Amino acid sequence: MTDIKSKKVVLGITGGVAAYKAAELVRRLGDQAIDVHVVMTEAACGFITPATLQALSGHPVYTDMWDARIPNSMAHIELSRDKAVIVIAPATADFMAKLVHGHADDLLSTLCLARDCPLIVAPAMNRQMWENPATQRNVAQLEKDGVTILGPASGDQACGETGNGRMLEAQEIADAVAAFLAPKSLAGVHVLMTAGPTFEPIDAVRGITNRSSGKMGYAIARAAIGAGAKVTLVSGPSSQPIPAGAALTRVESAADMFEAVKKHAKHADIFIGVAAVADYRVETPSEHKIKKTDDSQLTLRLVPNPDILAWVAGQKQPPFTVGFAAESRNLENYADEKRRRKKVNLIVANLAQNAIGADDNEVMLLDDSGTHKLPRAPKETVAKDIVARIATLYRAAKKRR
Ligand code: C5P
Repeated sequence: MTDIKSKKVVLGITGGVAAYKAAELVRRLGDQAIDVHVVMTEAACGFITPATLQALSGHPVYTDMWDARIPNSMAHIELSRDKAVIVIAPATADFMAKLVHGHADDLLSTLCLARDCPLIVAPAMNRQMWENPATQRNVAQLEKDGVTILGPASGDQACGETGNGRMLEAQEIADAVAAFLAPKSLAGVHVLMTAGPTFEPIDAVRGITNRSSGKMGYAIARAAIGAGAKVTLVSGPSSQPIPAGAALTRVESAADMFEAVKKHAKHADIFIGVAAVADYRVETPSEHKIKKTDDSQLTLRLVPNPDILAWVAGQKQPPFTVGFAAESRNLENYADEKRRRKKVNLIVANLAQNAIGADDNEVMLLDDSGTHKLPRAPKETVAKDIVARIATLYRAAKKRR
């Protein structure tokens, strides 16, 4: 259902310590079905070998204008012609200055100057180099020229200092590149969604939670952002990296999640309830840690939590509403019953034992037109297919209104 499978990109690596992260970046771009062709500057080869990148990308690595493998000796033109985008990661301060001034004194800079595709740059340098007015002028000029700048992040640097200038992590760059390449089927659409588990307090230190990792929900948030949506993500406790571009509200309990959803629901075009919301909470959590008693019996009284998904779907003018169903058996029947009872437009059904906490997932999508099964795949891929289906159904529903 997605079409980024056909996307080829040039990954340009320049000479900074962060070049070691380029190896990981090739893998993470590969996870997103992006075909990576690597071009390196001479200085980059001092930090990481072309052989490593050739092995990881599965393609020859180019470093030289006069590479005999390009039949017409026009490497600087040929290499970008069938590519969707050139990504420079890491981009040194010097390389950015070259881009600004249109220098063309090696293969990568010449390739950038002669390109007929967009350019994405992920800077990496010492914090003082980054903060220097010359670099800042160059960044501003590149943005004016239509170049997309990713990062940099703030944190520990290879030089031992701390501050702005760290290259974004490989996963963040790969997500941003995938988002850049994805079809914009949800451009201008506001998606409100929940993800992760909830945590229902028992006392000051204990609580009831579940094994949901947030992986599926965060992957859907990334896919929706990639499809051009504005995403508000209400998340229970999760250690997943925050999807770049999402407006994140962190919550713990189902009650907090409900409040956050109520606050944003009016402005949402689509609601996706991915969170594994606890059905029950402790009626009166103890403010202090409960002490063990002599008879060592403890009874907790549980009361039902509000059903967030059913509440959203029950509004007078509800957004296009998508729910998840995790079942351990009778998947299709139980999921369809849930879809009708909660009055949601689409249910994504998965077997709990296959899905919760796993990296892969196998889902079926149930809507008024019937059941569509998707093959087992990494959650990132499944997420893109789910978002593509949501976009199709959302547009069709909007036309009917
Ligand atoms: O009824 P069940 O919990 O199986 O329904 C799952 C779906 O309902 C998921 O989309 C989940 O996010 C949502 N849900 C909710 N609030 C609850 C319970 C479930 O939004 N209290």
